Amino acid sequence: MSDLKATLTVDGIDGAIELPVHEGTIGPRVVDVGALTANGMFTYDPGFVSTAACESQITYIDGAKGVLLHRGYPIDQLAEHSDYLETCYLLLYGELPDKTQKEQFVRTVHNHTMVHEQIRTFYNGFRRDAHPMAIMCGVVGALSAFYHDSLDISDEHHRQVAAFRLIAKMPTLAAMSYKFSIGQPFMYPDNSMGYAENFLHMMFGTPCEPSRISPVLAKAMDRIFLLHADHEQNASTSTVRLAGSSGANPFACIASGIAALWGPSHGGANEAVLNMLEEIGDVSRIDEFVARAKDKNDPFRLMGFGHRVYKNFDPRAKVMKQAADEVLAELGMENDPLLAIAKRLEEIALSDEYFIEKKLYPNVDFYSGIILKALGIPTSMFTVIFAVGRTVGWIAHWNEMISGSYRIGRPRQLYTGYAQRDYIPLDQR
Ligand code: CMC
Repeated sequence: MSDLKATLTVDGIDGAIELPVHEGTIGPRVVDVGALTANGMFTYDPGFVSTAACESQITYIDGAKGVLLHRGYPIDQLAEHSDYLETCYLLLYGELPDKTQKEQFVRTVHNHTMVHEQIRTFYNGFRRDAHPMAIMCGVVGALSAFYHDSLDISDEHHRQVAAFRLIAKMPTLAAMSYKFSIGQPFMYPDNSMGYAENFLHMMFGTPCEPSRISPVLAKAMDRIFLLHADHEQNASTSTVRLAGSSGANPFACIASGIAALWGPSHGGANEAVLNMLEEIGDVSRIDEFVARAKDKNDPFRLMGFGHRVYKNFDPRAKVMKQAADEVLAELGMENDPLLAIAKRLEEIALSDEYFIEKKLYPNVDFYSGIILKALGIPTSMFTVIFAVGRTVGWIAHWNEMISGSYRIGRPRQLYTGYAQRDYIPLDQR
């Protein structure tokens, strides 16, 4: 805590209001506005662009410099040298594991990959054409109906078990939501495989043939999970924290995160990117769509471009672009027509005055959409895969909040509706 103070002078209030200013390890100073309520005032910050809603030690982002650190480690170093489960350990416990800790962690995750057999029948209640994110919202929330022995949020052991269950079961549930939509039998997890490899096995394997998963593609999948693992107080993580602040159980909280992630401005963007590329259809139509993106009267936006926090470049996008190039080369897909559209859009965004001036760069979802398409993942599964990767971030933040001191989240408002008025009987209206 620093000795810095900010003073606020407001017409009609005698004297200035002193507000403490907090300094983090790095990053902007934070004015503590808690004293305003006692002075009959709230702050107004739609979209929370200037509001720190909590104190956290998990992830740091400097949007101007394009920096993303997990527990202090830069994302590009983690993407190059680490793997998804090791990054999960780091996010959850704050340090990189030693060899024994890593083996133990991986083994425990593997021990939880299977889901309760009754959950398999639960899927049959959905329509075959249900969006897999709709299924995930329902099924993940429903885990609280199956795993009663990890619902006590005041018990650290319960919280640990819930964390392992969620990280381990998300790929199983995600692959099941896909298998259900195409009418194929669900695949049981194979714990002899790595996390990403196992996911691809459950997605593309069938009971008739053993799966053959290319190590290059499994590595690309692992990297996608890793690059989505956490992103500090984004919309879905803030939703998980807010839901958790009421004391809700972890499975219900993660389901709320999945719902928030689904929107096209957040996790739904990777699916929207591919839909947009398909809608554009041909390189010759790109100018028309770019003109629409620039037109203030047209709600159309170029999906996969721009970011609330990164106003220089998205460091995840840099790594993801490299991974995309590797995967496309491995699959011999460099000349794919959809990818030609993507490449041209990327060129335009990096050179066109409108995009440069507004600092709209290709974001992580632009490239992850391209990789997932190349891996043969159906578009409707893209956001589900984001949710699988982000689950650890949601849990790490939820656990950080629950194990510290917290209050129920309760934002206030600037009310602009009617002042008090008397009820008018129906015959007088
Ligand atoms: N295409 C065209 N114009 C855009 C775009 C875009 N993709 N994004 C922002 N703008 C314009 C916007 O019209 C506005 O112009 P003006 O100042 O003239 O009104 C200006 O840029 C600032 O936009 P904003 O909506 O105030 O910015 P924001 O920080 O509130 O929104 C965003 C960030 C990510 C929601 C937005 O850039 C967007 O909708 N992008 C497309 C969706 C997308 O790719 N989302 C994935 C984000 S990365 C994954 C994740 O972390 O969830």
